[in-house]
Amino acid sequence: METKIVSCSRGWLDLAKKLIGEGEVVAFHTETVYGLGANAFSDEAVLKVFALKGRPADNPLIVHVHRDYDISSLIDGEPPYAAALRRTFLPGPLTMVYPSTGKVSKYVSCGLDTLAIRVPSSPTAQAFLKAADLPVAAPSANLSKHVSPVTARHVFDDFNGKIPLILDGGACSGGIESTVLDCTGEVPQILREGLVTREMIAQVTGECKVYRARSGEKPKSPGMAYKHYAPRCKTAYFTAEELEKAVACYESEEESGAPCFLCESAVCALLKNYRALDLGGAPEEMARRLYALLRKGERQATLLIGIEPREKEGVMAGVMNRMKRAFGVEHGTEER
Ligand code: TXA
Ligand code: MG
Repeated sequence: METKIVSCSRGWLDLAKKLIGEGEVVAFHTETVYGLGANAFSDEAVLKVFALKGRPADNPLIVHVHRDYDISSLIDGEPPYAAALRRTFLPGPLTMVYPSTGKVSKYVSCGLDTLAIRVPSSPTAQAFLKAADLPVAAPSANLSKHVSPVTARHVFDDFNGKIPLILDGGACSGGIESTVLDCTGEVPQILREGLVTREMIAQVTGECKVYRARSGEKPKSPGMAYKHYAPRCKTAYFTAEELEKAVACYESEEESGAPCFLCESAVCALLKNYRALDLGGAPEEMARRLYALLRKGERQATLLIGIEPREKEGVMAGVMNRMKRAFGVEHGTEER
């Protein structure tokens, strides 16, 4: 199968709609990362997504809908705080988990009685979802465990010959996946940190918890159990206080391979004599650059050495979570 990277013009949107209607899989731009979309009502189409990615069968998918889609048919009610959050943050990088009505394929939620819904703000995603006019189940458009894609080319690198169409919307401005928020309890609870932060949610709702799986416990957001976002080269990880150790690690790799640091600008400035990929300074900039630099690092280096950013609050909580998991420091309770 030929994989076409196309713009979001009328003709290509008509083809995307036709493909989704026929149970095919279409990749599309969102403001966070690219998604691998399929008709959420179709068991076959949803299973195709799992097969293409090599995704474990117990890791549920997010359903994507356009801004005018009536989600009340998909969920069994919502608390008042959830309606307020939708008004404030949607369309945008916030996924909301609700009690499910079981209307979409059972494979979307993998046996959970909840459904995750997202209304992306990217004009490409909106145009695609409007054209499809169906709930579209879509994980990030990367092979399972690999780094999430933030350009159409990244999607092509993982799925060339396996999917018919990639709707190109350029580089993703957000750069890390949406915040996943459990809206089934009295107080909203973040299951995956992202660009909509705990602080931003608490401003609307008064209170917001962040879920942390205890060791040995299966996490509420099953995806958090897996090693993820991993570049295909050796990795090492140090804090900014351990820079001497990090340099020793670099120098020992240099004897036989090609090491490279991945760090924020302020740390890059201290490592002038070494190869380093610069994440930038502001948290939003680091989020936007992280995945592209992880993919660049795996192409160019035999050992990628991550240096932990010093700021850890707000948007940096999400960046830190992805960095630690990419470098294998923290990946929940089990690894598959
Ligand atoms: O930004 C994003 O969310 C991107 C774009 C494409 O929209 N999508 C994405 O999907 O990151 P994926 O499949 O790579 O990650 C979905 C996460 C997983 O950790 C999964 O376990 C969790 O959301 N999830 C999905 N449905 C859930 C549910 N019903 N309850 C709890 N967690 C859920
Ligand atoms: Mg993913």
